Amino acid sequence: TVLSKLLRALPKAELHLHIEGTLEPELIFQLAQRNGIALSYPSVEALRAAYAFTDLQSFLDVYYAGASVLIHAQDFEDMAYAYFERAAADGIVHAELFFDPQTHTERGVAMVTVIEGLTRAGARAQQELGISSALILCFLRHLSEDAAFETLEQALPYRQHFIGVGLDSSERGHPPEKFARVFARCRELGLHLVAHAGEEGPPAYIETALDLLKVERIDHGVRCTDSPALVQRLAREQIPLTVCPLSNVKLCVFPQMSEHNLPALLAAGLKVTLNSDDPAYFGGYLLRNYEACFEAFPQWGRAEAIQLARNSLEASFAAPEQKAGWL
Ligand code: ADE
Ligand code: ZN
Repeated sequence: TVLSKLLRALPKAELHLHIEGTLEPELIFQLAQRNGIALSYPSVEALRAAYAFTDLQSFLDVYYAGASVLIHAQDFEDMAYAYFERAAADGIVHAELFFDPQTHTERGVAMVTVIEGLTRAGARAQQELGISSALILCFLRHLSEDAAFETLEQALPYRQHFIGVGLDSSERGHPPEKFARVFARCRELGLHLVAHAGEEGPPAYIETALDLLKVERIDHGVRCTDSPALVQRLAREQIPLTVCPLSNVKLCVFPQMSEHNLPALLAAGLKVTLNSDDPAYFGGYLLRNYEACFEAFPQWGRAEAIQLARNSLEASFAAPEQKAGWL
């Protein structure tokens, strides 16, 4: 259709993408074989069949198990380059990739291995696909703030290879304030700051992410609608929300796409962006997320498509000169 051609053709940025969440079952099996790692699933089909999630934690358990096949820098490079190829096909011009170093360092994989592999993929994507990209290091919030500080120390020799930090993993019971000191340190270091908040957690977590962590964007944020005052604030301050529609349905944040609150968020004047989160697990890359929304929300048309794509470029951490070239 005309609209789906437009959705592909519009220059877009992807701002909420966990690179470990792009590991397709086929690549998991390939890397397991290459690295001599035993998997607890007999086949690609059996693994894919396990992708039936009831909430965030049920997904995270499978996601961390999948990441265990990543050992060498080449593995990280192969994974990320496969993502960039799909991103290019979807009309993505710029991608800011989350990575979870603690998932790897806790297994004995060195920080340098992770960052080197991802950095090489990003350089090749620029060269061969014309996509610009950046890395955002995420702290796992189910671990301690001390562990986050240690991770930051390990990453600082490679400071020039990442532009910011984020906060992900199990949200409930791990409020932003648990990481106030390490985020303050990252702020002093001139890093960009983002955090997952209001995916499963309450609106209060969105407020503390803004007020205590001083984040520049909220990842997810969909539960803001439980607090009308917060929605007003997010609209007034034009805080970007990196919403992940297919993820929200797969993790049962909303029962089906037609019940997602995206239309309400956009109508309230929030700076909403669409993103794929963990596309290998949630049934589609960025373009599929756009299409699923436009199929589910009959009131959305050309204007919303242009607005959402534009929001993603504006909300990115790309340099103003680069943004000017897109907008
Ligand atoms: N890690 C990977 N995907 C995530 C999500 N949607 N929420 C929290 N942590 C994550
Ligand atoms: Zn996420």
